[in-house]
Amino acid sequence: MFLFAFAPLFHLLQPALAASRDLKDNSASCDCYVTTSGSEPSYFTYHRFWDFRNLATAPDQYTRAPRLLTDADSSGNELSRDQSFLNSSDWNADWDIQDWTKEATDEFPIRTQNSPANVYIAQNATESDDNSIPPTWLTLRTSRLDDFQSAAEIENLQKNLLHASLRFLARVRGDPGAVAGLFTFFDETNESDIEILTGDANRTWRFTNQPSLDKTGDEVAGASIEAPRLPEWRDWREMRIDWVPGVSRWYVDGEQVAENTYSVPRKPSGLILNMWSDGGEWSGEMDVGGSAELHVGWVQMVFNTSGPVEGPGEGRGGRYGSSKRSLSSVEESTPEIHQLVPRKGAKACKVVCAVDGTEQEGVPEVVFTASAARSIWPALRLGGIITWLALWIAYTIL
Ligand SMILES: *[C@@H]1O[C@H](CO)[C@@H](O)[C@H](O)[C@H]1NC(C)=O
Ligand SMILES: *[C@@H]1O[C@H](CO)[C@@H](O)[C@H](O)[C@H]1NC(C)=O
Ligand SMILES: *[C@@H]1O[C@H](CO)[C@@H](O)[C@H](O)[C@H]1NC(C)=O
Ligand SMILES: *[C@@H]1O[C@H](CO)[C@@H](O)[C@H](O)[C@H]1NC(C)=O
Ligand SMILES: *[C@@H]1O[C@H](CO)[C@@H](O)[C@H](O)[C@H]1NC(C)=O
Repeated sequence: MFLFAFAPLFHLLQPALAASRDLKDNSASCDCYVTTSGSEPSYFTYHRFWDFRNLATAPDQYTRAPRLLTDADSSGNELSRDQSFLNSSDWNADWDIQDWTKEATDEFPIRTQNSPANVYIAQNATESDDNSIPPTWLTLRTSRLDDFQSAAEIENLQKNLLHASLRFLARVRGDPGAVAGLFTFFDETNESDIEILTGDANRTWRFTNQPSLDKTGDEVAGASIEAPRLPEWRDWREMRIDWVPGVSRWYVDGEQVAENTYSVPRKPSGLILNMWSDGGEWSGEMDVGGSAELHVGWVQMVFNTSGPVEGPGEGRGGRYGSSKRSLSSVEESTPEIHQLVPRKGAKACKVVCAVDGTEQEGVPEVVFTASAARSIWPALRLGGIITWLALWIAYTIL
């Protein structure tokens, strides 16, 4: 059914993107995925890849950004411009564009209003042969009006992640006073963040496990790591959160840059991307007329799950529960949510694939195939890392 949306066009015009549906799980031959987190291999059962880099079928299709919202656009029900992609059944099966409101308070003096109109596809007007320069990307925009901050948020509908390695090709641009967030979320105490503050220096990044404030509103020492000398976030970077049992690690361009054992989430969670401000101390306050953008080239995740795909909440919608008016409501899209059907022999992992350093981004590569009846997971349980190293060496030599 999803094929009707746009895939056929892609097949004709974008051979590299053939079967766009498959970009979500480009790995029929893989039983599990391995990545090195810290110094040890971590294994995951599932893989997804969403690629926003080649969405244009014409040179000027997305080169003009949609107009900035105005004070009149204060309800959050403005539609996203790019309906054919951002409201396709394929998109709606995996992502929910948010429109919730967070009212102003003393602490956070600017009302935040999410609007689907701030989520759109952008395209570089200059064509390039350099394939490290994405021709298109997904944009999440925030802008400051007199009366409120117009913001953007997308939630992934797979809300039962329990341990994951999440990767993003992304960059952040624009005026001070906004926050780009890429994070796992169950609630305010099970949340692991990458945050880029447009008011920070160009090389400063923030990596946080929530809660970062205690009950009296004071900062919890050690919850948030401010890393001041990293690659500039205004340029495309590969950002990564590793959420493994008992430890969170963050990476930029393949280098580990932070690690934390404080409040590592324990609840099945979802993935959220946003671009916002509330005028508070953390985000800063954007000047009226200002705007800032989070650009996303692709999202890749390897993960394990626990419980139903909707997550452990009571079909929890947006993060602000009742104030959310879901546009592509969960009810509508539930039948199409990419349900994770256990693979044949889900407990066995005979074909191990890697997601790092692959020839093509987002296309896992087989690194090891266990012989006949042996699954790699029991083997790992027996011998842990030693077994893995032995297998790895055997594999690389043979
Ligand atoms: C993911 O699940 C597999 C199968 O249960 C397990 O062997 C592996 O250790 C899990 N990975 C993490 C990071 O917890
Ligand atoms: C998607 O389209 C439906 C109508 O078909 C509309 O009601 C809904 O608001 C749209 N969603 C977004 C996010 O634009
Ligand atoms: C567009 O592509 C050119 C190279 O062709 C590059 O120099 C420029 O930075 C790109 N612009 C954006 C906004 O990504
Ligand atoms: C950050 O980079 C932008 C764009 O290159 C530049 O205009 C600005 O001065 C830089 N800001 C800081 C604080 O380095
Ligand atoms: C996660 O949520 C549970 C249930 O609300 C809570 O007990 C726990 O403290 C939270 N945080 C962590 C890190 O487990």
